[in-house]
This record gives sequence, structure tokens and C-alpha cells, in this order.
Amino acid sequence: MPTTVRSHAKINLGLYIGAPRPDGFHELATVYQTIELHDLVTVSAQPAPSTSIRLTSNDLRVPTDNRNTAYKMVALELEAHSTPASVSIHIEKRLPIQGGLGAGSANAIAALVGLEIELSRVRENVLPGGRGSTSWLDMSQFAENMGVPEPGSPAFNAENWPSFELNLAAKVGSDVPLFLVGGAVLGRSRGENVYPLPDLDPIWCVVALPPVGVSTPQAFRDWDALCADEGLTADASEDRLEQLSRTYARAFAGAIPQGQHGSGSSGVPVLDGDLAGPQESALVRTGISSWIQNDFERVVFPQHPSLAEIKRLLAAAGTPEAALHASLSGSGSALFGLYLTRGDAQQAQDRLAASGVEGQITRTLPRSEYWANMLVRQ
Ligand code: C5P
Repeated sequence: MPTTVRSHAKINLGLYIGAPRPDGFHELATVYQTIELHDLVTVSAQPAPSTSIRLTSNDLRVPTDNRNTAYKMVALELEAHSTPASVSIHIEKRLPIQGGLGAGSANAIAALVGLEIELSRVRENVLPGGRGSTSWLDMSQFAENMGVPEPGSPAFNAENWPSFELNLAAKVGSDVPLFLVGGAVLGRSRGENVYPLPDLDPIWCVVALPPVGVSTPQAFRDWDALCADEGLTADASEDRLEQLSRTYARAFAGAIPQGQHGSGSSGVPVLDGDLAGPQESALVRTGISSWIQNDFERVVFPQHPSLAEIKRLLAAAGTPEAALHASLSGSGSALFGLYLTRGDAQQAQDRLAASGVEGQITRTLPRSEYWANMLVRQ
């Protein structure tokens, strides 16, 4: 029976870009946060004498060959373990392609999880008591136990991860490994070095999906031109990223309620209705909402002024229903606003609709929920 996996998107709670590296990538410091919006990835797989991968999608813009991240991830995994298989992957697209929400990267990990579960089932049938399919879902526990990154602590990488899939994921794309962790994740290097952060309480989020495409490589090139104009040196930008990473780690560590250090999102209240009155949000408690920014806005907004206008609609600054934070996600073109109440989120969606912009109401997804909600039960 095929396995269907939710492929959750991410937003960036701040994104800082450093100098270009000799390999053409840029150093980054960002906090990724997974959200409930998702695509659906369905995988069926059987061992076979040689590997064949068939990929389909409801969206004709999705490449169905080895340019597809899910295709690449599955091919790398099968090759690395020398386990040829016949694999079918269907991607039901609900998220925008190239939207800054990491949808393609998330598809890669959803396909990997689906593949592992499918092949575990076969192994279990052959070898009763063999490696269970829940092993992937237990990975969240490992991430929880990593705790708050201390300055200079090792990244969450192949050396301290119980499998080497993080390395494979980094080969597929810079923001693929974060989806092996989920929740709030500090991203460093080109984004592939990931540090699990203590999770914040879920918060209402409105994602705006403007019909505009932004090329990520072009946005990075525009950033380089801006830095050259402003005379920002590579050393100065590396210092800036180091400082920001420490500030992020301290802020998230400080936001965990007393006695919950290391326990991640356990005890997190479920947001199933509008909050009755003003309450402090965990995001405000971290202090990050007062200072985070996305460097890409400085190059993307001048080229797409409509996106700056959408940010203003999401923010509603100075009103009682103002966002706690509003920003471009990644290099865009998706933007998001975070809100204390469902009602505030609803009003933001209404403001977008009045301007003809599609907006979806969702919530941030802590690590334990990310893993618990991943499999679609059949
Ligand atoms: O790794 P990914 O495939 O997502 O990167 C797409 C492109 O974005 C890269 O080829 C590179 O041009 C640019 N990039 C970058 N620095 C990063 C991540 C991506 O310059 N940290």
C-alpha cells in the first residue's frame, strides 16, 4: 500500500546573508520555522534488480525527471545504501513552486520518509521484528535532545545525527536538511548546517502568495551588488552572522518557560480558538520579533514594489490587530504575518483578499507536531 506523507513548508524568522564563497554559495544565518501548510507526497516502493523512479504531479510545472528534488533525494538514498528499488512518487502540489516556502526541499524529505517506510514494510515482512517504520518518526526525539546550541557547538550534521541522510539532503539543496529536524531550526553555513532550537508555542500565521516569481540565485547576486556598493567586507559580514547566531540561540533559550529546558514543545497549548484577550506570545518573549529582518527584502522589494505593499497589509502597523512580525519568506515571493489571535489572522486574510492577493491562514508547527503529523494514516 502506498505511503502518503505531509510535506510541510517553512518560513524564515529573519534571514541574514554574508559574503559569497568560492563555491558560489553565500554564508547565512537564519531561523527556519516549519508551518502546517503542506504538499502531499505519496510513495510506493519495492526492491528491484535495478532502480527505476517514476514521478508524477497534479501540477504540470513540477519537473518529473532528475531535476526534481524528491527524485534526486530518493536516487541518492538508494544508491548510497546499494538498495535498488522500483519507486513511484506522486506530488500533490498545494504550495507555490519557487515561493520561498521551501516546498521543493520539503518534498525531498517527504519522499525520503515515504521511501524508508515503504522499504521497512518489505523488510518487516521478510524479517519479522526487523527495523520498524517508526524509526524515522522517532528522529524528532533526537532533535529534541540536542538542546540549545551553545556558541561554537557543532552543527547538527552527519557526525551527530544517527544516520548520514543529512549529508545526502545537503547535496540536494541548502534548505533540505532543515526538514530532517522540523520546528524552529537555526541554519548556518549555506543553510544546510542545522541546529534544533527550543520550540515556541504555535502561533497564527497568514501566508500571502503573490503571483510573482523571484529567482533565488538572482536575488543573491543583487545582494552582492548592494554589499559592494556599501563597502561591506567579507570579514565584517562573517562577524555579523556569528553575532546574530549567538543572539538567536540566547533568545530562544531564554524564551522557554522555567522547567521546560530541553523538553521542546511538550506542554504547548493547542490553539483551537481565538484567544480571549491580550496574552504574551512566545515570539515576543524571545525578543526576536523586535529585531529580526530578512536581508532579501532590501533587493527584492525595490524590484517588486507590490511585495512591499503586501508586507504593509500583513503588518497593519499601529492597529490593534497588527502582526507580531511580518516579512518576506526566503527570497520570496511568499510573505507571512504572525498574529496573536485567529481573529487578527482572519482580518489580515481579509485585507489581502480586498487587494486581490491570495492569503492562507495556518499555524507554526513545533518539532514534535511536525513529526507526529507527518504520516497520513490510511
Ligand atoms: O542550494 P539551493 O539549490 O537551494 O541553491 C540555489 C541557488 O541559490 C544556488 O545555486 C546559489 O546560486 C544560491 N544560493 C546561495 N547561497 C546559499 C543558498 C543558495 O548563493 N546559501
